[in-house]
Amino acid sequence: MKIDIITIFPRMFAPVLNESMIKRAQKKGKVKILVHDLRGYTLDKHRKVDDRPFGGGSGMVLMAEPIFRAVEKIIQNCKSKSKIILLTPQGKPLTQGLAKRLARQKHLILICGHYEGVDERVRKYLADEEVSIGDYVLTGGELPAMVLIDCLARLIPGVLGDENSLNFESFEDNLLEYPQYTRPADFRGWKAPPVVLSGNHKKISSWRRQEALKITKKKRPDLLLNL
Ligand code: 6GU
Repeated sequence: MKIDIITIFPRMFAPVLNESMIKRAQKKGKVKILVHDLRGYTLDKHRKVDDRPFGGGSGMVLMAEPIFRAVEKIIQNCKSKSKIILLTPQGKPLTQGLAKRLARQKHLILICGHYEGVDERVRKYLADEEVSIGDYVLTGGELPAMVLIDCLARLIPGVLGDENSLNFESFEDNLLEYPQYTRPADFRGWKAPPVVLSGNHKKISSWRRQEALKITKKKRPDLLLNL
């Protein structure tokens, strides 16, 4: 998978992309991530990326021209079909289901929105899809882009050490995760449930399933309605 990111804050990405699983995924050649500075696609000498909104109002709007130029340049050198995603609070909420669908794509172009907004023509005539990471407002699409990349990277086969762990985790079957314990079995008098120490794998997995259901019912009953 290849991911191109278009942003006015390219330096925000290095600390996240060069750590942990995302770093490993890139090292293993599972994903190639390139960060593009939107200012590099401007035509004027001030490298202007935003302007005041027509009709007045506060804040600045990201201009269509540099964003279109950036996408067109990226697509030029690309053989496979690209999916162009605009990160914005107006987008489809990111869910594990949406992530799984996007993880099947060969090439994603992520456009990070900013300021008061992005020229509507980017949304209408350039983006294939709009994605949001939840119902709250952030200053820009950079953190959402990183959230999306993290979520996708771990879905790419061969990125996680244990492929099995994908099947047993939160949201895979719309359930939250069961409680986990590790050594010591007795920590300050708080004991791990005897069942997880029993060595009876059938009993352990039925206990885990039960606990997952119980926790989901209590903390996120809305997830059970989506079954
Ligand atoms: Cl994708 N962008 C911004 N600016 N805020 C958000 C968001 C995106 N998703 C949730 N809040």
